[in-house]
Amino acid sequence: MPTLINPQTAAPVASLTGKKLNIGLYGFGCVGQGLYGVLNDTPGIRVGIGQIVVKNPNKRRNLPAHQFAFSPDAIRNNPSIDAVVELIDHADDAFEIVQQALRKGQSVVSANKKMIAEHLPELVALQAEHGGAFLYEASCAGSIPIIRNLEEYYDNDFIDRLQGILNGTCNYILTRMFQEGADFNTVLTDAQRLGFAESDPTLDIDGFDPKYKLCILTLHAFGLFRKPEEVLNLGIRQVTAHDLQFAREKGYKLQLVATSQKVNQNQLVSYVLPHFIPEKHLLYNVSQEYNGVIVQTAFAEQQFFMGKGAGGYPTASAVLSDIAALTYNYRYEYKKVYQQLKLEALAQYPLHVYIRYGHGSPIFERLPVHNLEARYEAGDFNYVIGTVDLQDLHREQAWLRQNDVFIAVL
Ligand SMILES: NC(=O)c1ccc[n+]([C@@H]2O[C@H](COP(=O)([O-])OP(=O)(O)OC[C@H]3O[C@@H](n4cnc5c(N)ncnc54)[C@H](OP(=O)(O)O)[C@@H]3O)[C@@H](O)[C@H]2O)c1
Repeated sequence: MPTLINPQTAAPVASLTGKKLNIGLYGFGCVGQGLYGVLNDTPGIRVGIGQIVVKNPNKRRNLPAHQFAFSPDAIRNNPSIDAVVELIDHADDAFEIVQQALRKGQSVVSANKKMIAEHLPELVALQAEHGGAFLYEASCAGSIPIIRNLEEYYDNDFIDRLQGILNGTCNYILTRMFQEGADFNTVLTDAQRLGFAESDPTLDIDGFDPKYKLCILTLHAFGLFRKPEEVLNLGIRQVTAHDLQFAREKGYKLQLVATSQKVNQNQLVSYVLPHFIPEKHLLYNVSQEYNGVIVQTAFAEQQFFMGKGAGGYPTASAVLSDIAALTYNYRYEYKKVYQQLKLEALAQYPLHVYIRYGHGSPIFERLPVHNLEARYEAGDFNYVIGTVDLQDLHREQAWLRQNDVFIAVL
């Protein structure tokens, strides 16, 4: 069990109230430049960028050269920096940056879901020990204010299910393939050009990025630390025109959906899988780079958040909100952890799925399919509809990613 932030015993958050905040910014890519623009376009904001650190000294920048440094020491050794904003695309370097700042008791804002999901227990413990706040609203669902809502608004309401489209790139690709019949690689290139895609697009299209987000949200919604490697993620790399045609004929849309849901009083199941979504579903109209999150609670019942899930300015708006929150000494208290909901992760869980496979595929030797409802075989378009167990999918996920098999929940 990691050290937790107990408001009674944790080191107090270093006060940043009432002063003009001087931030040290790591990264000046899509989101870093978005933040620069957002800060410039926000009248009266009492936040300035004291130093920017980037990686590549040979890159052309759209600001004067003297504003950039290339060593983290330019921020670490600068006594005028009040707080750190980490917006780089490298998870290990980001963890080093964030860890060092938190050890100094500094407060940090980050958007790096991979780094956060992989190190949540340590990051929570560092805050408790040294007093710096660590805020990361932009890491999950872009501009949607979901983490602070889970922490504050749903503080006392029991959450039964959290489900969402958490990856703007995949949603953008699927929307354009569905609406225009566009080719997968062409649309992925467009998503990269528009700044939606991760530097390594595998993280998006194989569903790792929404899985990292799901792990973070699961902690804030259910108080359960989930290690990313324990959560199944299958993405949209293998989607073909046949799968989209199947969706159209049935009146569905194809979307990549992340789910954490209570199965009974003390068990929680989490996974990221493509879904065929019917028209009446709240996620049906989430298109392009938008994200959508449904929160199902005991008392409020179903609520739905939608907003842009990627892009420089929308993501920077969430970063800005976190920076502003630092000025009133806000920090996450991981309230659901303290409520001791005593949930444990469930590995076995039946899923009703469509499985499309290539001619001669050994799929049924790898994956037991139960309750077979339909089987269609026509040369290059073969599928079954039936039930598979989450645990079997998890065991076979590496094989499934590398073969001509596409699986979607019905
Ligand atoms: N793009 C989005 O829509 C979006 C949405 C939500 C969250 N995020 C997250 O936001 C973060 C930034 O994403 P991005 O899209 O802005 O990435 P990006 O456009 O690829 O920019 C990355 C920046 O990080 C810098 N960098 C890389 N390693 C560094 C290091 N060790 N020290 C200092 N600087 C370093 C790069 O420096 P150079 O300029 O010298 O190459 C570049 O300026 C990522 O964690 C991403 O997952 C992005």
